[in-house]
Amino acid sequence: MPVATREWQLAARPHGEPTPEDFRLVELERPDPADGQIVVRMLAMSVDPYMRGRMNAGKSYAAAWEVGETMKGGAVGRVVASRSPAVAEGALVLADAAWRDVAVLDARHVRVLPELPGVPASYHLGVLGMPGLTAWVGLFRLAEFREGDTVFVSGAAGAVGSLVGQFARLNGAAAVFGSAGTPEKVRWLTDELGFTAAFDYHDGPVAQQLRTAAPDGIDVFFDNVGGEHLEAAIGAFREFGRGALCGAISGYNAVEAQPGPRNMFMMVTKKLSLRGFIVGDHADMRDDFIAKVTPLVTSGELVVRETVREGLDEAVPAFLDLLRGGNTGKMVVRLAD
Ligand SMILES: NC(=O)c1ccc[n+]([C@@H]2O[C@H](COP(=O)([O-])OP(=O)(O)OC[C@H]3O[C@@H](n4cnc5c(N)ncnc54)[C@H](OP(=O)(O)O)[C@@H]3O)[C@@H](O)[C@H]2O)c1
Repeated sequence: MPVATREWQLAARPHGEPTPEDFRLVELERPDPADGQIVVRMLAMSVDPYMRGRMNAGKSYAAAWEVGETMKGGAVGRVVASRSPAVAEGALVLADAAWRDVAVLDARHVRVLPELPGVPASYHLGVLGMPGLTAWVGLFRLAEFREGDTVFVSGAAGAVGSLVGQFARLNGAAAVFGSAGTPEKVRWLTDELGFTAAFDYHDGPVAQQLRTAAPDGIDVFFDNVGGEHLEAAIGAFREFGRGALCGAISGYNAVEAQPGPRNMFMMVTKKLSLRGFIVGDHADMRDDFIAKVTPLVTSGELVVRETVREGLDEAVPAFLDLLRGGNTGKMVVRLAD
């Protein structure tokens, strides 16, 4: 028997910063599962910066959502009914799913997750999921981090950035510097995550604050923010510096093309390499990442923090807040226990 369910849809394309009016929560019938399908009660769903790009017309780093289309993203849930021999009832699964509390999904489109005692299911959306792999791939493959490097991370108190800094420290960085948007985040970076120093980018020009924090320069830059941060890092690089360009969130709400760094010639004189990447192209590193990072999570060696919002109604406020810096660590929406 079909039952009623609710989901979030894109109601309008934002111009600049999105507002609650750009989304709508609709009620619809949930169909019965067909052969090969499962019914999943979602425990937690992810809101991520890339979703902002999907709200615009044209291709960003993911295809655009159409107006009227369902909002989708990473979610973890429990299988409550199964018509697939591949996925048993009771299994914990990861899916790219609609922003819903219960979903009917093709079993072949979900990944069955291991049961990890003491590890919240939502960690598969953060430290053990896409953001964690992004931090790992960007630091080790793209920026070719090596022991003794001095590292600067922008957006350092977010899901990806907070892991980049810790991966670097745990792997023998000489020093790790970070920038973030509030004094509390800055204190968290230095007092709990072991960053050498950190600063609030609102407190003054980034280049100047970076020079004060790291007067001898940096070897590696992991960029989540772009714009002024990127220009400052180019200025701070030592010879043969390496950068992983992961994101440029300072420009995601911009309505015009953003200016590039004014110091690009330093790429030549300092012989720098800056490499952009999309995590989806690096799935080959996932098994190694999970094998190495899971013990760091279960032992508590890695500090993992989430900002948790409760219930499907909070999905849009959580997303809007993420874009404004309302999260420390990974922003997740809890849908059930
Ligand atoms: N390349 C890939 O495959 C890939 C995969 C995942 C994520 N990403 C990118 O990685 C970055 C981080 O993603 P995440 O999931 O870890 O998000 P996040 O850092 O947890 O959350 C976004 C953060 O961005 C910061 N921010 C917002 N506006 C800003 C501005 N104008 N200037 C500086 N900081 C600003 C806010 O923190 P503050 O309080 O510090 O401002 C906010 O908390 C994003 O750029 C995202 O697009 C890329």
